Amino acid sequence: MTSSLLPDWASQCLCSPIVTPYRTANPEKPMKLGVLASGSGSNFEAIAQAIAQQHLEAQVAVLVYNNPQAKAAVRSQQHNIPAQLLNHRDYASREALDQAIVDVLRQYDVELVVMAGWMRVVTPVLLEAFPRRVLNIHPSLLPSFKGIRAVEQAIAAQVKITGCTAHWVVPEVDSGEILVQAAVPVLPEDTTETLHARIQVQEHRVIVAAINRAIAQIRGSL
Ligand code: GRF
Repeated sequence: MTSSLLPDWASQCLCSPIVTPYRTANPEKPMKLGVLASGSGSNFEAIAQAIAQQHLEAQVAVLVYNNPQAKAAVRSQQHNIPAQLLNHRDYASREALDQAIVDVLRQYDVELVVMAGWMRVVTPVLLEAFPRRVLNIHPSLLPSFKGIRAVEQAIAAQVKITGCTAHWVVPEVDSGEILVQAAVPVLPEDTTETLHARIQVQEHRVIVAAINRAIAQIRGSL
């Protein structure tokens, strides 16, 4: 059941449409992305589709995933994108995992790293290898509800609006400079699942807009 108080569009999102506002005009060559994903990979899919539809002047050079069951890996096969499993359980420390990630990203000449549902805290080993070149998508309007279970946190706090944020990654979790956000109303009947599903619809737009903005920043045009 949807809320009778809100029209359909408003129950989806309270932001204006994001129409790839930061798309670069005349790129010399597509920027090489390294995508890190742990789960279903719907954000990875959104990136791959945006590239296929020429909404992003980029290419996914490699997908790195840490969970052998990650559906993101299946999606990468469908898009003919190389994928590399780096299971965190095989590494003695976060730093050791991050060094392995850096090695793979370097192997594929990655220029911009996108944490698209990467459920691991990253360390300076990754961030110093790619300074101001790592972005993340988080399911809340930061700086509210940092860390894990952000959607549950929003429901527990009884906020009426939450959303999602794409931001540059810094060592402190979910604290880097914000690139793009979208707001999503919390409906009276929402469960964690229904709210997260609506947030994810917006994440798929926000992550593409954020990559475009990041590319523009890196190329010095913004
Ligand atoms: C997203 O909600 C993202 O914000 C969070 O993890 C989820 C990943 O979803 N960090 P998916 O794997 O991209 O579908």
